[in-house]
Amino acid sequence: MNFEPQIPEWGTEDFKKHQDKLFEYHEWLKNTAIKTGLISKKTDQFIWDEFIIHSLYFAKLIKKFKNISECEIIDLGTGAGIPGIPISIVNKTNVSLVDNKQKRIYELERLVKILNLNNAKPIKKMQNNSKRGKNSIIVMRCYVSTSNILKTLEKKQLKDNNLIIFVSSSSKSSEIFNTMFHVKQEKFLINKNNFRYIDVITDM
Ligand SMILES: C[S@@+](CC[C@H](N)C(=O)[O-])C[C@H]1O[C@@H](n2cnc3c(N)ncnc32)[C@H](O)[C@@H]1O
Repeated sequence: MNFEPQIPEWGTEDFKKHQDKLFEYHEWLKNTAIKTGLISKKTDQFIWDEFIIHSLYFAKLIKKFKNISECEIIDLGTGAGIPGIPISIVNKTNVSLVDNKQKRIYELERLVKILNLNNAKPIKKMQNNSKRGKNSIIVMRCYVSTSNILKTLEKKQLKDNNLIIFVSSSSKSSEIFNTMFHVKQEKFLINKNNFRYIDVITDM
């Protein structure tokens, strides 16, 4: 193995047991996903740390904030299934993998069969058409910025109970104030030395 499949301390107890399937996904990302253009060429270590470990922190937050068996999880702009596929590996809850590119949906349909993931469902949809039930958790990574999501939510007066949105943000810390929504920035170690941030937006 030419990379270190590390799991930071915050994840060892919950996620170590899923390591075999996470390896399989890593293999798929470094072979099929790069070959089919779903992700650009990256090192094995980058794929493990920045895609898989980063996604696991979304899964950790989901566990922390909700009784997840009552929720549906929607990964908007999923691309190669990041963070939706790792979330569906470590949780039994249904995860919709939404992207507007049909080619990506075909590749993800093949992937969920390879990984035997009965709870992950690739769906071709535009952002605005995505149906959202009451207990939805929407996750987005590298898709829309926190401030743009807040603008959209404000414009639509989208303020129903139990809405939770996780958003990936940059490697820098920032403070965002909003009168309608609560934004909390979660900071976590992605490997031994480097921190990343995820913004969690909830309605107040
Ligand atoms: C920058 S990629 C991020 C992919 C993945 N979440 C990640 O972290 O690597 C953004 C993805 O959003 C998809 N996308 C763009 N516009 C969309 C829309 N209106 N509805 C759904 N997906 C969309 C693109 O096809 C692409 O796969």
